[in-house]
Amino acid sequence: MAVYETTRVYPIKDGLIVKIRDASPKDLESIWRVFRSVTEEKKWIPVLFVAEGEFERLSWFSHHRSGGSVILVAEIGGEVVGHCLVERDDWDAAAHVGNLGIMVIAEHRGKGVGNAMITEAIIRVREKGFEKICLSTFNTNLNAIKLYKKHKFQIIGVRKRQFKMQGEYRDEVLMELILDS
Ligand SMILES: CC(C)(COP(=O)(O)OP(=O)(O)OC[C@H]1O[C@@H](n2cnc3c(N)ncnc32)[C@H](O)[C@@H]1OP(=O)(O)O)[C@@H](O)C(=O)NCCC(=O)NCCS
Repeated sequence: MAVYETTRVYPIKDGLIVKIRDASPKDLESIWRVFRSVTEEKKWIPVLFVAEGEFERLSWFSHHRSGGSVILVAEIGGEVVGHCLVERDDWDAAAHVGNLGIMVIAEHRGKGVGNAMITEAIIRVREKGFEKICLSTFNTNLNAIKLYKKHKFQIIGVRKRQFKMQGEYRDEVLMELILDS
C-alpha cells in the first residue's frame, strides 16, 4: 500500500489497483453519475430522486468540506467508480461523530473497492479527531452489512418499516463503530 499525499493505493481483486483520494470539485460530475446510477437501481439507498444542477452539487461539496467531513472517491484506471462520505454530525454536541455513506457502481462491486474505501475512511476520520462512526442500511442489504461487520461495526438497533421503496417496506439497521485506540 503506497501513500501519495492525500491518495492511497490499494491492491484489490483480479490484479486491480484502486486509488482512494479526497474528492475535489472536479469530481462532482462523477460523484453524481455514481449517485444517480445507484439511485436508479431503487434497491440500496433511501433516495427516490436525485437533485441535479451545478448549484446543488457545489453547495453539497462546500457544505461538507467546510464542516470537516471526509469525502473520498475511488478510482480504477482513471474512472471514478465509487465514493464515500463521512459527514460530521449536525449537532454541535455530536461533532465527534461521523455519519457514513458509501456507494460503488454495480459493475465494480465485489472486487474490494468498498473495503478499500471504508479502510481509508476510518484512517481519515481518526486523523480528523472523530471518535465514532454511525451508519444505517436496509435490512435487505446483506452485502453492506457484511462489509460493515468486517470493519467491526456493531448493530445497535433496527427501525422497523422506516422506508418504503416501490411500495415495499424496509427496516433500517443502525450500526456504529466506536473509534477507541
Ligand atoms: C455495499 C457496497 C458499498 C460494498 O462495496 P463493494 O466494493 O461491493 O464491497 P467489497 O468488494 O469491498 O466487499 C467487501 C466485503 O463486503 C462483503 N461483500 C461485498 N459484496 C459481497 C457479495 N457480492 N457477496 C458477499 N459478500 C459481499 C464481504 O464481506 C466482502 O468481504 P470479502 O470479499 O472479504 O468477503 C456496494 O455493494 C454498493 O455500493 N452497493 C450499493 C450501494 C449501497 O448499498 N450502499 C450502502 C448503503 S448503506
